[in-house]
Amino acid sequence: MNIKDDFPILKNRNIAYLDSGATSQKPQAVIDAISEFYKKCNANPHRGAYALSQEATEVYENTRTKIAEFINAKHREEIIFSKNATESLNLIAYSYGLENIEKDDEIVISIMEHHSNLVPWQKVAKTKQAKLNYMYINENFELSDEEIESKITDKTKIVGITHVSNVLGTINNIEKIIKYAHKKGALVIVDASQSIPHMKIDVQALDADFLVFSGHKMLAPLGIGVLYGKKELLDNMTPFLMGGDMIEYVYEQDTTFASLPNKFEAGTQNVEGVIGLGAAIDYIESLGYDKIEQIEREIVHYAIEELRKLNFLDLYLTKNNENHSAVISFNIKGVHPHDVASILDAEGVCVRSGNHCAQPLMRFLGIDSTCRASFYIYNTKEDVDRLVEALNKAYNMFKKYIKI
Ligand code: ALA
Repeated sequence: MNIKDDFPILKNRNIAYLDSGATSQKPQAVIDAISEFYKKCNANPHRGAYALSQEATEVYENTRTKIAEFINAKHREEIIFSKNATESLNLIAYSYGLENIEKDDEIVISIMEHHSNLVPWQKVAKTKQAKLNYMYINENFELSDEEIESKITDKTKIVGITHVSNVLGTINNIEKIIKYAHKKGALVIVDASQSIPHMKIDVQALDADFLVFSGHKMLAPLGIGVLYGKKELLDNMTPFLMGGDMIEYVYEQDTTFASLPNKFEAGTQNVEGVIGLGAAIDYIESLGYDKIEQIEREIVHYAIEELRKLNFLDLYLTKNNENHSAVISFNIKGVHPHDVASILDAEGVCVRSGNHCAQPLMRFLGIDSTCRASFYIYNTKEDVDRLVEALNKAYNMFKKYIKI
């Protein structure tokens, strides 16, 4: 089985695509599902009494059920469709945070959060005169138990934590964080954007209060995201966006709101995104997470081994390979990552360079930016070899200018 063959873009372009942390490529099955929807059942769900609209409603709502089963949510209405993880996190910050956080309460996040799980909490903390506290990483780029236990206190009301760092690839011990936060009476929001493409998520086993992810990093189209929330929490939250389909009755001066999940899905939704996400889940399930983890472990361990041989690199890696997901950040010592990424691009190797929407983490690490190679199921050892070859080329071009 050659997984690459399922991804038309990887046949059409001679590239080593190592930027799946930014967005994954899409398999033919996902592209086909979207095209079939437009060819056979496009209409606006929940809007028409005619058969076509009812069919569109059915495929839309069936995907909600599929996602609930995929992450083992207890109730299908605990799944809310959004634009992306960022919108899901903003929804929680506005509809839960601003309503429930009070003066002097503490919100705790980690220093490795993406801006989307950081900036909204600054807004809540500032508006409510609460404190925003950070859990910092140790020299292994990990959160220690001591750090977790010293930062989450009896005053903590919300803990926001990324499951996997989009910069470092660190897999955080969210089981421990959730248990400890609950003991202290705090709710936990898990950003699963960088984990759900790679590992099985079970929201009930985790006992996560909220969990968010984007579809586009897990083979689905751009522009579709998910918010999972425990029903009792979502039921008591006020809507984030107002408009069509999220109401029950509208009067001239007042409105009553629809029940879950519609309460949080105002306006015409990204139905093709939902359909594509359903097809992406089918694809992931047909491979199985065991297989996905096996493929990725092999590639990532190979990449770590090969990159460690390049003594001109700074590598930002956890000590324990098993605690590392499919992201590797690095720099050629003394060379700006954008320059490195441009040389790699000329060799057909696509990596992201920059601060990866994690400026506080960069500042904590004492750097401006990194190059980041991120891997997924379609990557091969040949892709890693291309990366290594291109890095050697870049180093040879720059070495006479480098002052280390
Ligand atoms: N959040 C995405 C990344 O880490 C875009 O690249």
